[in-house]
Amino acid sequence: MRAHSSDPHKLAGRDGREAVTDFVTSQILERLDLQPQDILIDIGCGDGRLLKNSVGVASRIGTVGSTDECMLLKKSMPDITFKACLATGLHLETASATKIVCNGVLLYMQSTDEVEQALSEIKRIAKPDALIWVGEIPAANEYAEYKMYIGDSVLGLLWFLLRNHGLRTFLGMCRKLIMSLFGQDQVVLNSAGIYWSSPQNFIALAERHGLRLETYFKHREFNANGDPADSKYRFDYIFRK
Ligand SMILES: C[S@@+](CC[C@H](N)C(=O)[O-])C[C@H]1O[C@@H](n2cnc3c(N)ncnc32)[C@H](O)[C@@H]1O
Repeated sequence: MRAHSSDPHKLAGRDGREAVTDFVTSQILERLDLQPQDILIDIGCGDGRLLKNSVGVASRIGTVGSTDECMLLKKSMPDITFKACLATGLHLETASATKIVCNGVLLYMQSTDEVEQALSEIKRIAKPDALIWVGEIPAANEYAEYKMYIGDSVLGLLWFLLRNHGLRTFLGMCRKLIMSLFGQDQVVLNSAGIYWSSPQNFIALAERHGLRLETYFKHREFNANGDPADSKYRFDYIFRK
């Protein structure tokens, strides 16, 4: 659906918050310290912004989870290589990257097994001593913390909203659902869970897969006033192979 939107920023998954994507991208680039000889791979590259802003490196490769996203990116950025593949099975050469970014992606994994596969894929494609940014790993179940519905039933969604968010939100969703019946609006039911881990467990997992922790810190985003602030739940990690 994101790939078929008229707004390319939808690919970054931060609807209506393009300034946040710019901010997050600049934070990552600051840490990457890119050099002309770098081979940069961005796993789950969203709208390709980080790669677009990384001119001057030897090679830029982005992966996305679907062929639709990939086609859109290839069309708008022909000088960058894009591939459609999952983080658990990257269609990329072994020991090929000097800098790797995987931001806002592992939280979509549906099990620790999947995260482990993704971490070993990251290790496989990294050259020795490569710098690896793994960002936006929640330390708590954000869906539960923010009282978000997970499931595939419209009635379930309405009942959840009534119980957890009150009559006003419930009626708002009823209106949205009626509009969607006439093609005037869209309601997306989120039936997938979210991966989350305490920093201690995530670091141990990554180290078991051959990544050495350099540092980790609270992910930075914007607060309600639009000022940069620490994320409530998410952490960013920098590893070396
Ligand atoms: C929320 S966006 C993050 C985009 C970008 N990294 C950023 O921080 O702006 C999630 C990205 O992960 C990709 N993605 C989602 N599920 C994936 C999976 N299982 N394996 C690999 N990539 C996935 C999507 O195609 C999308 O590019």
